[in-house]
Amino acid sequence: MEKIVVNLAYLLAASLFILGLKGLSHPRTAVRGNLLGALGMLIAVVVTLLDKRIVDFSVILAGLVVGALIGVVLALKVEMTAMPQLVAIFNGLGGGASALVAGAALYETKNPDYLFTTASVASGIIGSVTFFGSGVAFAKLQGLIKERPIRYTGEQVVKALFALIALALGTYLVLNPQNLELYWIIAGVASILGILLTIAIGGADMPVVIALLNSYSGLAAAATGFVLQNNALIISGSLVGASGIILTNLMCKAMNRSLLNVLFGGFGEVATADQDDIYAGKVKATSPEEVALLLEGARRVVIVPGYGMAVAQAQHAVRDLYNLLESKGVEVEFGIHPVAGRMPGHMNVLLAEVDIPYEKMKELEEINPTFEQTDVVIVIGANDVVNPLAQTDPKSPIAGMPVLEVWKAKTVIVIKRSLSPGFAGIPNPLFAMDNTLMLFADAKKAVQEIVSALKEG
Ligand code: TAP
Repeated sequence: MEKIVVNLAYLLAASLFILGLKGLSHPRTAVRGNLLGALGMLIAVVVTLLDKRIVDFSVILAGLVVGALIGVVLALKVEMTAMPQLVAIFNGLGGGASALVAGAALYETKNPDYLFTTASVASGIIGSVTFFGSGVAFAKLQGLIKERPIRYTGEQVVKALFALIALALGTYLVLNPQNLELYWIIAGVASILGILLTIAIGGADMPVVIALLNSYSGLAAAATGFVLQNNALIISGSLVGASGIILTNLMCKAMNRSLLNVLFGGFGEVATADQDDIYAGKVKATSPEEVALLLEGARRVVIVPGYGMAVAQAQHAVRDLYNLLESKGVEVEFGIHPVAGRMPGHMNVLLAEVDIPYEKMKELEEINPTFEQTDVVIVIGANDVVNPLAQTDPKSPIAGMPVLEVWKAKTVIVIKRSLSPGFAGIPNPLFAMDNTLMLFADAKKAVQEIVSALKEG
């Protein structure tokens, strides 16, 4: 195939990737964005296959069928709450594939130049870190290994040592490209580094780490793009690398943490204040019937969902409650915190799944000024994202994190099973405030009972 045709097709694919990413920036255009990106990838793959007949097409077809089957089964079976570990597998496989392809290309090329070997080594190191780091992230989130951070004295020195060995061996290979076996030793050292980097991070911080590993998998792919001199791979890898780091940054910002703190910190290990002091004698429990009565008299209601709504799979019940309240003429909006749940857009996806209109989902900056005019806020399985300590206690691990100021509403109903803390492991004074009522129950069951009580009332 003519080089110019190939490059034009790659240019078209790259434009589709960028339009796809733009589409993904809003829920309304996300599906179209996904399709555009997929179309770009299809064009890039087909043109590459026609351009370079590397292997027998029947092998490629077989791979395509097996891959598509696995993809379809995963898409249908994997629970929304298990999405982070699925993404971890995808990142890991991308990084691993980049490292293997770069290694194979190194073996095939006679007299490689510096750019070629440097790109191969970069792909080998980053790809191996990504593969094994993602493996650990998956195992932690899936509960196959303990979620808590594994810490030991001198761990930073050990990690720095492995990184230096990988870089030193990599430099040696660039200067002496005939020592091909060295590539696999470098990949081995980087693999251990990937494991060491991720076992030191707690399971709850894994979503941020996965976004970072996503970025790494893109960088590994871009490096392999230089090895194969494939422009589409260089561009798509760079886009993944850049968007992954932007997402990592957004997640850190919404949690008011630095990336260094996530990677080397130890969140969730902070000594917590004595909960009894905060809650003693001040917590008021309520019932679904009492909540229904309050809602009957409300003109404006804001629903704030959190991780517990995802765990309980309460979104369908929440949609029923929303429909019922709207049919009674109550104004209902949803307050969505950027890091509510355990992955970016977690709450938006769950609510969109049950057809809550996008215009009803308000971001933090939009909803906060409205709480003072709100009669009832229903907090469903959220905790840290509505914790006033973020504003009042500079020593708190969530100090400075932007939070939903639900306590400014007339009445706050908090639905959760107990007074247990959330992800940050700290108590929440909201539960003991004068205008707060606690409905201790599983989120789905509680919302269903409120709906029944409202219908009967
Ligand atoms: P959390 O602060 O983690 O609180 C969730 C609450 O849900 C828990 O206190 C738990 O209380 C309750 N819950 C669990 N299962 C429930 C069920 N079946 N029914 C009712 N309630 C249930 O959640 P959040 O407010 O959504 O905040 C998210 C946290 O995760 C933030 O600290 C954020 O920084 C962190 N984080 C988020 C992300 C992203 S990207 N979203 C990534 C990493 C970390 P009970 O056990 O008493 O029921």
